[in-house]
Amino acid sequence: MTDAVKVGFVPFSAQPRGVLVVFTDETLRFGPATRKVLGGYEDTIKRAAATAQFKGKSGSALDILAPAGLKIGRLIVAGTGKAGSLKEEDYIKIGGTSVARLKAGNEAVTMIAELPGGPLKPDQVAAIAAGIRLRAYKFNRYKTKAKDEDAALKAQISIAVADVAAAKKAFSPTNNVVDGVLIARELVNEPPNVLYPVEFARRAALLRKLGVQVEIFDVAAMKKLKMGALLGVSQGSAHDGRMVVMRWNGAASKTDKPVAFVGKGVCFDTGGISIKPAGSMEDMKGDMAGAACVVGLMHALAARKAKVNAVGAIGLVENMPDGNAQRPGDIVTTMSGQTIEIINTDAEGRLVLADVLWYTAQKYNPKFMIDLATLTGAIMVALGTEYAGLFSNNDQLSERLTKAGQATGERVWRMPLGPEYDKQIDSKFADMKNAAGRNGGSITAAQLLQRFVGDTPWAHLDIAGTGMGAPASDINTSWGSGYGVRLLDQLVADYYEAKR
Ligand code: BES
Ligand code: MN
Ligand code: ZN
Repeated sequence: MTDAVKVGFVPFSAQPRGVLVVFTDETLRFGPATRKVLGGYEDTIKRAAATAQFKGKSGSALDILAPAGLKIGRLIVAGTGKAGSLKEEDYIKIGGTSVARLKAGNEAVTMIAELPGGPLKPDQVAAIAAGIRLRAYKFNRYKTKAKDEDAALKAQISIAVADVAAAKKAFSPTNNVVDGVLIARELVNEPPNVLYPVEFARRAALLRKLGVQVEIFDVAAMKKLKMGALLGVSQGSAHDGRMVVMRWNGAASKTDKPVAFVGKGVCFDTGGISIKPAGSMEDMKGDMAGAACVVGLMHALAARKAKVNAVGAIGLVENMPDGNAQRPGDIVTTMSGQTIEIINTDAEGRLVLADVLWYTAQKYNPKFMIDLATLTGAIMVALGTEYAGLFSNNDQLSERLTKAGQATGERVWRMPLGPEYDKQIDSKFADMKNAAGRNGGSITAAQLLQRFVGDTPWAHLDIAGTGMGAPASDINTSWGSGYGVRLLDQLVADYYEAKR
């Protein structure tokens, strides 16, 4: 992992070293522990704030080098805005923006987890620590001549808190989730010559170390299952496809119905014979962001020993043009027995998911099934990079996902499904076709998926806009976002996990 920042907790009484970060809100006052550390320096801060017109607004900071009388190299007074209205998502961002100010050379950092109103609660401290790690992540594995801006932060960040044990306890599961996000980002960022289906499957199998059961299906195994749609996409590539099924049994009973997550893992999408234009085609290395999220999520659940049974299933292929590639006009038979006429070989994600969704529903009869896929360019036209598209046959699941999205900041926006749209994918020659017109492109894609979920409560998240290539944010500067890991971990924790 390209993540060299270390976060630890120390008591308020610890002597700060290196860079000191303290927090204030729009009152420009400080909490008691912070005042103790600042001592007489508070007056200087007041004058500096006036000169710099620092008003404690969210995201703003006063930056003072070598403050006289303090045994530190640099003091950052970070504003949080109105302290009363801060939510968990805001604390994550506070962690992220604090890190953004540090330089690669800043090795020791102390951050006092206190607002004017007093010490932050353990959950708030954990959120700040999460934000720190999320923001510090850099994907620079392939830079051999690191410039300053590429250098990863190698800081030891000590967060000073009222209760070290409580902070550690709160951060432990959050830290596992952050690891999951970084794993997902890493997979999305990796180049496609390195991360092809077999290699992706190998990395997913690393979850075995955490007690996850990992089953890898090769081409012969998928032929046996009659996964004609997934294999049709894969057949034009020199790299064989794989399906990986990961299982975490954390519920009290092994027979508890699992929750299930399904990911699109197109390790590279050229479009196939319906080849894509050259512009930005390199971005299609990220067409496995859905599968990456499922791996990251399974890591998070297993590492924090979530009290739930969970299944993660990912379809890994490469969509290439080749003498053996599938053609527009081909008709494939899915594992379900339903047939699909290929109209456009670039509408490949739904073909992969059709078989993996069907397999997961049949084999595991899950409580619900959520798939994640960088499925359509049309979802970016509709929602941009802020919200993922949510399509579902179940209102309760949709509401829960929406709430988890608001809590984590990984937001979803529900889109329609309906029989009128469904008609658009009827085919002259087969049970359905894999592409309809441009209009409602994300919806007709979701309609096809729905034909492979039966009665299972199901939600589809179209993450083409959110999973990769979104603008840098307070908590991510890398290309892959790891979108979905925090969202789905929160969903599981809030609604599907036995309370401890
Ligand atoms: N992987 C793409 C969707 C995509 C596009 C994701 C841009 C991220 C950024 C998907 O396989 C695809 O090519 N979809 C087509 C479907 C069409 C041919 C019906 C699309 O969206 O244009
Ligand atoms: Mn495609
Ligand atoms: Zn694709």
